[in-house]
Amino acid sequence: MNKENDSKKPEDITDVIFDNIQEQDNNLPKWWLWLFYITIAWGIFYVAYYHFGPGLQPHEMLALEMKQHEALRETVQEEQAATSDGAAEVDYLALAKSESNVAHGKEVFVAKCVACHAQNGEGLVGPNLTDAYWIHGGDIDSIVNVIENGVVEKGMLAWKGVLKQDEFQDVIAYVWSIKNTNVPGKAPEGEKE
Ligand code: HEC
Repeated sequence: MNKENDSKKPEDITDVIFDNIQEQDNNLPKWWLWLFYITIAWGIFYVAYYHFGPGLQPHEMLALEMKQHEALRETVQEEQAATSDGAAEVDYLALAKSESNVAHGKEVFVAKCVACHAQNGEGLVGPNLTDAYWIHGGDIDSIVNVIENGVVEKGMLAWKGVLKQDEFQDVIAYVWSIKNTNVPGKAPEGEKE
């Protein structure tokens, strides 16, 4: 026994000596014990709260977040639908009566459409837009629909999103304005309106 051990209370000292090191039986430090108690308390709280209480398990949390995300996506889609409904309510017939819109629409037509529909819409690869015959219908909704979505397999492109919104609207106004102007050109195709 060395000097240090002499100062210890006898019960702290054990008989075990290992590699010349004498094992002692000290009390565990307070901070260590507190950590230990806190982890136990945390464990009890955790099980009670997350397994039996209102706490959410990771998969429940995920499901909740997915639901919130889905709800958010739906509202965004509804908003978008609401605004594009607004676009669908564009009064093309009124635009077709506005000279400035029609003039702007003609510019768009000359830039984008004449390659197939010819300078005045009398038809080339694409049908004559000035006669009374329409492949897809000559009412405004049908015309908007064809220009919006195209007839891709027949070589008519979809223009929605390719043209800016005002170009899109005005070119429709222009097409409406040349309707029944009967410019001599490509032979009639489709049904007489
Ligand atoms: C690459 C050639 C091409 C271009 C460019 C093109 N079209 Fe067409 N378009 C066609 C063809 C081909 C058809 C006929 C589709 C069919 O047979 O179903 C057509 C059909 C149409 C129709 C329907 C005609 C009907 O009889 O029902 C409209 C309206 C129309 N185009 C407008 C436009 C406008 C406006 C533009 C420019 C923004 C445009 N097109 C650009 C080739 C074109």
